[in-house]
Amino acid sequence: MTIKEIFNLTVQMGIKADFRGEDGVREFLEEKKKKYEKLPEEKKTDFDKEALENPYLDSRIYNSEEGKEVKRVMAGIDIGPAEILMAKEFGDIDLIIAHHPIGKGLAHLADVMDLQCDVLNYYGVPINVAEGLMKERISEVARGVNSANHQRTVDAAKLMKMSLMNSHTPCDNLAASFLKKKIEEKDPKRVSDVLEILKEIPEYKEAGKIGVGPKVFAGSPENRCGKIALTEITGGTEGSPKLYEKMSQAGIGTIIGMHISEEHKKEAESSHLNVVIAGHMSSDSLGVNLFLDELEKKGIEIVPCSGLTRISRV
Ligand SMILES: [Fe+2]
Repeated sequence: MTIKEIFNLTVQMGIKADFRGEDGVREFLEEKKKKYEKLPEEKKTDFDKEALENPYLDSRIYNSEEGKEVKRVMAGIDIGPAEILMAKEFGDIDLIIAHHPIGKGLAHLADVMDLQCDVLNYYGVPINVAEGLMKERISEVARGVNSANHQRTVDAAKLMKMSLMNSHTPCDNLAASFLKKKIEEKDPKRVSDVLEILKEIPEYKEAGKIGVGPKVFAGSPENRCGKIALTEITGGTEGSPKLYEKMSQAGIGTIIGMHISEEHKKEAESSHLNVVIAGHMSSDSLGVNLFLDELEKKGIEIVPCSGLTRISRV
């Protein structure tokens, strides 16, 4: 496979696993197209045209050798200059795949957060409430990533002549849909049952060995779950803390997430929500693994690094 084919595959997999459904994603892209067409000619040149085809602007190709056949990939959760040097040292890495956004992908992290409105709406939060509360949070995230040293890793890849891409939301979509299916199949009654289901998944089992397995952050294991929502696995980063009250009102009893800040935890607690934190690196690994399996099936060798617990389901 070429780098472009690998990237297109991750986007297509992300769309198939998206909470909005394929039609919802198509609509999202059409809205972007309408906005683009309304722009005056001089502003059209500045518009990021990738936005018309790629619904996940936090995921990109940064440096690529056109048409290169990829046989060996180094993949990790956070890729920095150190990992670029490692890949160079190995000598036979054709492509480095990061999970977390870098470069232009990091600058556009807030763009994927619209997805959270649809996820919340899927679980019963009125779309106007979700959009109203997320709007504020999306602009906060956009300002937050603005000051980062976006090109540090990209520059390192260019200097070392290494091909580099990242897949963030497509992989998080894969993790969310995998977990959603598991939870629906097993239909847990109590929060402790949710923990047991998660602990059977190899990525979480491995995380448990180093002390970061699935944990209850709000509520208690004896509590009944009520309606379980996978609202905090995909969609860029944490949403608005004001949403917990609305989720509770929408009939959600338990949230499964990757990570949660103290402020968000307090809000969830005061809304009587149970929060099960599956784990960050482990959940990211799960999503990335589901994508890498497809590369492995095509004969590509995977070298895991930087916090990626590689579990193959091929
Ligand atoms: Fe992550």
